Parts: sequence; structure tokens; C-alpha cells
Amino acid sequence: MNILAFESSCDETAVAVVRDGRQVLSDAILSQADMHALYGGVVPEIASRKHVQAIAALSDKALADAGLTKKDVDAVAVTYAPGLIGAVLVGLNFAKSAAYALNVPLIPVHHIRGHHVRGHIAANYLAFPELEPPFVALAISGGNTLIVDVRDYTDMTVLGATRDDAAGECFDKAARVLGLPYPGGRPMDELAQQSAGGKYELPRAHVSGAELDMSFSGLKTAVVNLAHNAQQKGEALDAPALARDFACAVSGELVPRAMRALELTGHTKLVAAGGVAANSVIRADLERACRRAGVELFLPPLRWCGDNGAMIGAQGYYEYQAGHRAGLELNAYATMDLGTLE
Ligand code: KG4
Repeated sequence: MNILAFESSCDETAVAVVRDGRQVLSDAILSQADMHALYGGVVPEIASRKHVQAIAALSDKALADAGLTKKDVDAVAVTYAPGLIGAVLVGLNFAKSAAYALNVPLIPVHHIRGHHVRGHIAANYLAFPELEPPFVALAISGGNTLIVDVRDYTDMTVLGATRDDAAGECFDKAARVLGLPYPGGRPMDELAQQSAGGKYELPRAHVSGAELDMSFSGLKTAVVNLAHNAQQKGEALDAPALARDFACAVSGELVPRAMRALELTGHTKLVAAGGVAANSVIRADLERACRRAGVELFLPPLRWCGDNGAMIGAQGYYEYQAGHRAGLELNAYATMDLGTLE
């Protein structure tokens, strides 16, 4: 089954063709990051316009790269939530038109529910052919920070989430005060690798109530304050050390909770997903913790961490198998109640 998949929830237009949920026939991506870097962050209006300009040509390219024609498409999958509403709408409307014109089913994918989170998690099915649920997923991207109990391909529950900023957002804001380009996660990571850290004491978040919930806003504010104080006193910041200590602090929020989720669920596999899963400190901490706990760890290769269309095609296949279809009235949503993950 060939699924033509669309993803346009943020600043990447992505179209892919995925066969039977596991085999990527093509994966065409056009990033707008350079454009948004001029403004220090994603400008929603510009993102929408760039998606409109790119999507038709990218769709043709995805089919050509796959060596297929429109007649070979068996279904269309699309991210419909969550994301920048104007951006999501572009991919959604193009996908609806394609499904209508080709007379094939339209499969809704929540970017998080593998729909985007579901999508990020499903990127692992492309990277690891042997991976099957159940497992715990740590889904960490620019918009989401979730610990998910993935009981089956389309049956999942959020066990914990950030109460405020997403982990990636936090990396991006910290990078900004250190004068690094947007998106800041990767430059922060490169900077952190130049230092052993241990110089800056950053706060640990206290989230009352749910033991798997997280908070990153205090950490972000602490870095902003450190930078401003140093500036006012005319002192130089040790940027590599701060980047390292910051990454360790973020990791210290994420990794112990992911391990606790494994204990609570009894699952023996941990899957990382999303752009922040590319972080070298978090990857090393996850490796160490999983080795110690005797848990099998699935760390997606870097190319499958960020947004892409193939992950939507992978999850789309399993949504299709579960009988999920959308009509042409399908709408886009900027946010989605996490309960709908279930
Ligand atoms: O999954 P993704 O590409 O898009 C969303 O769905 O949000 O994630 C993007 C986020 C950005 O915040 C970016 O700064 C962060 O992932 N990121 C990283 C790294 N590479 C990308 N954060 C920390 N370390 C990295 N190496």
C-alpha cells in the first residue's frame, strides 16, 4: 500500500511516499529555517505562504523520487494537528484535494499522536524494522514534551507532559540569549560539547501532583537571568559551560521520568522521538540509564528526529489499518487535547 503523506505543521514542507508503513520510497523536505532565522523564530504568516509556494512542486517531486505516478497512490495521509494553524491548513487542504482527485482514502494523522506526536514516534518504525509496540515513548520536539504509553500502533496514553514550555522551545530561547542562530537546539548542542560543564547551578523544577509531568519555564528564565546579570556586570559568560549545564538540566527532567514510566507500565522498550531527541547529552543519558535498567533503547538516527513527511506516511498506514478515515470536512487544529491521544 503506497501512502502519499503531507506534513506542514511548522516551518518545513514535507511530502513522502511510504509503502506498507515501513518502507520510505521518497522523502521530500523543504525547510524554511533560513528565512525564519532572519526574524529569530518562526513567523506564522510567512510559514503559511512558503508552504503554499512549495507544496505542489514538492508533491510532484515525492512521486517522481519514488518512481511512481499519481495512479499508484493508494491513500493520502496528512497532519491535521497540532501546529501553526495557517501552516497546517495548507498541507491539509492540498491533501484533501489530492485524495478527492485521486479518489483514494484520506487518513488523518495527529502530528503528535503519530498524528504529529504519533508521527514522531512512528519515525522509529522506519528506522527500526523490528520495533513493535508496546513501549514507552519520550516525544520531545519544539512544540511537545510528552511521555507516552504506546500500547499499540494507534492506542496510546499520555503519561506525562510539560506544564509550560516544550523542551525544544526552551533550547531555542536559551540559544537566543547566548546569541546563537535559530533554531538553537543544534548550535547549543555543539557548544555544549566543548565543555564538561559543572559551572552553573540551574534550578530543578517542582511539579506537584503528577510525578511524570515536567516544567521548563523556570530553567529558561534562569538562563535568561544569568545572561542579563552577566551583561549588566560586564562579565563574560562561559557559554560552552552554560550550554552543557543547561542540556544536563533538561536531560535531568526528561530521563528519570522516562525511566519511571517504564517501571510504571512494565514495558521493556524505550523509544525517543522528535527534534530534541537529536541532543547528544540526552542521548548519552538515555543510553546509560537504559543499560543500567536493562531496557532496550531505540534512538532514531538524526534524520528521523526532526519533522518529515515519511513519519506521517508510516503512522498513516497504521491509522488506516485501524480503520481511521477522514472526510473532506476534516479541519485543522492548532492544539489538540492530549486526551485524544487515547
Ligand atoms: O521535531 P522538530 O523538528 O519540530 C517540531 O515538531 O517541533 O523539533 C524542533 C526542535 C527545535 O526546538 C530545535 O531547536 C530542537 O528540536 N533541536 C534540538 C537539537 N536539534 C534540534 N534540541 C537540542 N539538541 C539538538 N541537537
